[in-house]
Amino acid sequence: NLSEQHSLVSNWVGELRSTEIQTDRMRFRRNLERIAEVAAYEISQQLEWEEVEIQTPLGIANCKRLKEQPVLATILRAGLPMHTGMLNYFDRADNAFISAYRKHKHDGSYEINLEYMSCPPLEGRIVIISDPMLATGSSLVKTIQFMKNDGAPAQIHIVAAIACTVGIEYVQMEEPDATIWCGEIDDELTAKGYIVPGLGDAGDLAFG
Ligand code: PRP
Repeated sequence: NLSEQHSLVSNWVGELRSTEIQTDRMRFRRNLERIAEVAAYEISQQLEWEEVEIQTPLGIANCKRLKEQPVLATILRAGLPMHTGMLNYFDRADNAFISAYRKHKHDGSYEINLEYMSCPPLEGRIVIISDPMLATGSSLVKTIQFMKNDGAPAQIHIVAAIACTVGIEYVQMEEPDATIWCGEIDDELTAKGYIVPGLGDAGDLAFG
């Protein structure tokens, strides 16, 4: 939980939730981006670094460089602002885009449809998937299972602005090796799969 120790992240999640502030679409997108930037920094502390010698104008400096570039994956379309935030920090990363949406049936239930995926080979890679809302977790689990078809990643990190307790539990059950990073955790999920109090429809708020 990125806002556990009172940080700016709580402030940004608060702005995302506010009906008054979320009318400002640019601020909404930028807050998602900023949360992803903080998550990128936190995740970077868990990755492997190698020592390198860098020539400066005055001598040689011993520096550190990321040993392996991660693959930044996102779920269209609400994930795009967070993806930008990730890419601002992991600026040399590879990227993956997946489309997933809820296809509603006549009986009120729905299933997750995956229709588009552009993804480099993931075997042995560090994969960071960002999506603002982790509600039931089914979009994420389906996406990860689909991604794994071509070879298992070495690490999977999931980044969400708001995650729901049941969704976190579902992802942890289906993908026990994945690490979940989230801005805040909400306890309630409606029968239709919406997080309460949540923030509403992140895709609509970011893009109309
Ligand atoms: C939202 C969100 C996640 C998904 C979460 O996307 O961005 O992808 O729902 O729900 P789940 O955890 O229950 O699967 P949505 O389907 O609204 O599409 P959008 O990004 O195009 O708005």
